[in-house]
Amino acid sequence: MEIISTIRELQERLNTRKRENKIIGFVPTMGALHQGHIELVKRCVAENDTCVVSIFVNPTQFNDKNDLLKYPRTPDADCELLAGAGCNYVFSPSVEEMYPEPDSRQFEFGTLDKVMEGLFRPGHFNGVAQIVSKLFDAVRPDKAYFGEKDFQQLAIIREMTRKMNYPIEIIPCPIVREPDGLAMSSRNTRLNNEQRKEAVEISGILHKSKKLKEQLNVEELKQWVITSINESPGLKIEYFDVVNGYTLQSISSWEDSDSIVGCAAVFCGNVRLIDNIQYG
Ligand code: PAF
Repeated sequence: MEIISTIRELQERLNTRKRENKIIGFVPTMGALHQGHIELVKRCVAENDTCVVSIFVNPTQFNDKNDLLKYPRTPDADCELLAGAGCNYVFSPSVEEMYPEPDSRQFEFGTLDKVMEGLFRPGHFNGVAQIVSKLFDAVRPDKAYFGEKDFQQLAIIREMTRKMNYPIEIIPCPIVREPDGLAMSSRNTRLNNEQRKEAVEISGILHKSKKLKEQLNVEELKQWVITSINESPGLKIEYFDVVNGYTLQSISSWEDSDSIVGCAAVFCGNVRLIDNIQYG
């Protein structure tokens, strides 16, 4: 496995592989890797000839500068995990390499970024689109892998890929959970022992709500989830919505779509966690 920090060097290596008609798979990350990332990498390794993983904590997607400062950074442990998973190239550029000048591009996602994370984290998805498009331009992969935990991000990336005509297949990968159900996230490392125990209720409540779907209408189920999370020690809901899995717009009846997802953002102390569950 080679660790590369400039776009030029990365492209030199990948151009050689492309001339040999090798299929390039790509997993973009912000580092602080956990088993959820490693599942993406393993799938990328299995489905491509060459696997590229980027590690870059992208400043333009943090609307809260404190969150950016506190974002965990574990480059040595990350590289060890990536080597073990069979990654070929780690692309770990500096901020100057990715943003030689400020990126003023404004992306248009219609209604996709006007809800949920988009409402509570203004500018977040524009920053995600800025960096993912720059990374796609640098790597020019055949396939790119994204986790379904960031359900809205996945929809935004799909839309960006379509609009910009990138010839890249976007591969969604299922949420990876801890044995007790908590969705894996780099932010989990910021939970203290008490909070870690409290946070498990998020997935517990979402899973229980799936069973209640037969008895409750959409509005009743939403209220049940919100109340249950807020009554759970240490947790405070930021939003919970039940949405059409394609458009991300709220639904009002279980018959409204063949893909229905419940998406939540919850504060556990000052750590903000997201999770989601597929209802149909
Ligand atoms: O999901 C993430 O870790 C980030 O948003 C991504 C896609 C690597 C862009 O910085």
